[in-house]
Amino acid sequence: MELTRLRGFRDLIGADARAMSLVEERARAIFDRYSIKEIRIPVLERTQLYSRSSGETSDVVEKQMYTFTDRDEGETAVALRPEGTPGVVRAYVEAGLDRTDPEQRLFYSGPMFRRERPQKGRYRQFYQFGVEIFGRPDAASDAELLIMIDELCRDLKLPFTMEVNSIGDQKCRPAFREALVQWGRAHWDELDDDCHNRIDRNPLRLLDCKRDAKVTESAPKSLDYLCDECRAHFDTVKELVTAANVQYVVNPRMVRGLDYYTRTAFEVMAGGLGAQSTVVAGGRYDGLVETMGGAAVAGIGFAIGVDRMALAVEAAGKTQPKKPAVVIVPLGKTMTPQANVVAQEFRSAGLDTELFSPERKLKALLGRASKIGTEFVVIIGEDENARGVVQLRDLKQSGQQAVTVQEAIESVKNSPNK
Ligand code: HAM
Repeated sequence: MELTRLRGFRDLIGADARAMSLVEERARAIFDRYSIKEIRIPVLERTQLYSRSSGETSDVVEKQMYTFTDRDEGETAVALRPEGTPGVVRAYVEAGLDRTDPEQRLFYSGPMFRRERPQKGRYRQFYQFGVEIFGRPDAASDAELLIMIDELCRDLKLPFTMEVNSIGDQKCRPAFREALVQWGRAHWDELDDDCHNRIDRNPLRLLDCKRDAKVTESAPKSLDYLCDECRAHFDTVKELVTAANVQYVVNPRMVRGLDYYTRTAFEVMAGGLGAQSTVVAGGRYDGLVETMGGAAVAGIGFAIGVDRMALAVEAAGKTQPKKPAVVIVPLGKTMTPQANVVAQEFRSAGLDTELFSPERKLKALLGRASKIGTEFVVIIGEDENARGVVQLRDLKQSGQQAVTVQEAIESVKNSPNK
C-alpha cells in the first residue's frame, strides 16, 4: 500500500482506542469531582506563542515543532500545538479572566504534535489530558493536584511512582543556574556536545544529560539553593501530601524540559512501559501569565500522557474488550423494522445491543455472534412476531426459548456474564 500513515503517527483500532478512552473517561470523571471545568482550545496557534512560553531553548521549540507559514497577508508563522499549557494561558488572558475572575480550574484534552524520534510510548501525534489552575499561589493547590493524580492512578489500578522536586523561583534560581554552569565547565570532558550547548543556553537541562547518568550525580541540586519562601512552600506541599497518605519520593535531580516552571515540579512513572515511562508531568508556573501579557497571577498544572497511560493500563491487564450484551437477528428484510424496535427496547434498558444484517444466513450470523463474544442472541421471525414473542438464544447454554421482549431483557440483565 502506497498511502501509508506517517512515521510516529498511529491508528488506534479496537482495544487500543478503548484503552485511550478509558483513561480519558476516568480522568474526566475525577476532574469533575474536583470541580474542574472544561476548556477547548485550537490545535493551531502562532509559533511565537510557544517560543515565548515553552522556551526558545527547550527541545520542544528548538527541534520538535511542526511549523509552517500561513498563506494569509501577514504570512503568519503557525504551529501545531506541541503542548496545551501555552494555549490555555493565552485563552485565559485573551478572555480577560486574569483581571475579572482570576481563580480558574480548567481541563483540556486532545492531540499534541512533536517531531520526536518515535519509539514505544513516544509518538509524533499523542494525546494529553491536562489541568491548569490559575490564581492559587498557595501550597494547598500543589498538594490538591498531587492527591488528585494519585487518585486517578489508583483508580486505573496502575503500579506507579510519584516524584516531586522544587526548582526554586526567579529569586533563588539564578544562583542555582550559576552553580550548574560552573559545574558544567568543570566537568566539560565528561559531557557530550549536546550538553556542552546546554551550559550556556539552558543549564538546568544539564541534569538531563543522558550519556552517563553517573556524571550528573555530582551536579548541584536545586533543593540546596532554595530561598526561604520556596523552601517553606515545598515543605508545606510535602506535609499536606503526606497527611493525605499519598506516597511520593523527592527526586532532587528532576528538572522539567519546558522553561516556565517555578517551585514545585512533579512526574509520575508507571510500570511496564520501558524507557518512556513518565505518564503524568507538570508543575507550578507562577510568572507565565504575566510573561504572556496578563496580570501577575499564579499558575500550576499538569498533563497526562494519555497514550502512555493507556499502554500502562493495557500492560497491567486492566482493559476488557467491549462486547455487546445481546445481538438482534431479523430473519429476513421484512423483519428489520420490528428488529429496530426491539433493539431500541434493549438499549433503553441499558444493554449494549448490536443489530445484525437481515441478509445473511442464520448459521453465519450465529457464528459471528460467538466470534464477537456476545452471550445472547434474539431472533425475530415472522411467526414469533405474529405471536408477540422473540426467540432468545443463550450461546453458552446452547438453549433457545420463545419469550416476550420484556422477559428477554430480564434474562440478559440477570445473566452473571453480561
Ligand atoms: P510534558 O512533560 O512535555 O509537559 O508532557 C506531559 C506528558 O505528555 C509526558 O509526561 C508524557 O506522558 C506525554 N508526552 C509528551 N511527549 C510525548 C510524546 N512524544 N509521545 C507520547 N507522549 C508524550 C507538558 O506538556 C506540560 N504542558 C504539562 C503541564 C501542564 N505543566 C503545567 N501544566
